[in-house]
Amino acid sequence: MNAEALLEQLYDTPEQDIIQQIHTLRRELGEQVLILGHHYQREEVFQFADVTGDSLKLSQRAAETDAPYIIFCGVHFMAETADILTDDDQAVILPDLAAGCSMADMADDEQVQRCWQELGTVIDPDQSVIPVTYINSTAALKSFTGEHGGIVCTSGNAARVMTWSWQQREKILFFPDQHLGENTAVAMGIADDAMIIWDPNLPLGGNTPETIRAARLILWKGFCSVHQLFKPEHAETMRRNHPGIEILAHPECARAVCEVSDFVGSTEMIIRHVSEAAPGQTFAIATELNLVNRLREQFPDKPIWFLSPMVCMCSTMYRTDPQQLYAALIAIRDGDMSHQIKVPAAQQHWSRVALQRMLDLA
Ligand code: 13P
Ligand code: SF4
Repeated sequence: MNAEALLEQLYDTPEQDIIQQIHTLRRELGEQVLILGHHYQREEVFQFADVTGDSLKLSQRAAETDAPYIIFCGVHFMAETADILTDDDQAVILPDLAAGCSMADMADDEQVQRCWQELGTVIDPDQSVIPVTYINSTAALKSFTGEHGGIVCTSGNAARVMTWSWQQREKILFFPDQHLGENTAVAMGIADDAMIIWDPNLPLGGNTPETIRAARLILWKGFCSVHQLFKPEHAETMRRNHPGIEILAHPECARAVCEVSDFVGSTEMIIRHVSEAAPGQTFAIATELNLVNRLREQFPDKPIWFLSPMVCMCSTMYRTDPQQLYAALIAIRDGDMSHQIKVPAAQQHWSRVALQRMLDLA
């Protein structure tokens, strides 16, 4: 039976049966399989993860494991990262091949190459600019970054990575997320006039040669469609309605949101912050809904609100369901590698170099 026909059959099976069958097959496959689960995964899938975490922790675990099969319950760039960091005889499986990331799609290889060339009409980028790519990017961009002396960062280590990067060269080209770069730089005390935005649709990114020469940080105009839905006025309303509330935000939120928040950090850091707080502390959290709902369940003694009045869910993270996870386990059992994520050989070396530079900093 092909993968589509199998999935169709699984969708006709009661979900409780699927859950039972996942438990059974998971036990049967034992240590052959490691399941990695990002915090934004829905609960029915998240419960099966051997390791849960933010992008940094999951990439570290991928680099460490000897398991021959890694199922990545997350999105495409995460599975690519795991493939880059694992050995050739290990296979990384993405249960839903359409689980992408709209932010990662906001910078492609061609656009970044063009940016580098355009910068070259004003300055010598290989001497004065270090590329820093957020892990939410394609393997092609990680490879570009590694080849030009650059490094990968995550939301959990951006300040450390940027500090290191400015020790290497005068300017950082940060992509694809403007907000993570900007929020991190603001927290590090970088002045506004040292930052410029690079719009890939405009000549020189919409800048002049003078502003490019003066810049220390060039921020790619990309964003996360989920985190851009949080607004500073949501924080004001929360504070008015719940005196004493702490506002926690993911650094993919806009600067205006992070500036009015009490704490800004990666998903793992937000979880740690809530778990370490005293009982009775109230929170409003600006990150993806599945994580906020899970925290609510886990900490009933710490009232938690979702910062936005709108539902902000990552639709691609949500794509992975128990049926697809079960189908991935069946495929491993049967030797069907149709959901394997394999980074092209030409991108393997330099993307690994860029990732390894980041892992070495930890
Ligand atoms: P972290 O879990 O690394 O904070 O990242 C959030 C995210 O958007 C993943 O795509
Ligand atoms: Fe991409 Fe945003 Fe979804 Fe993260 S939450 S995977 S950045 S779209």
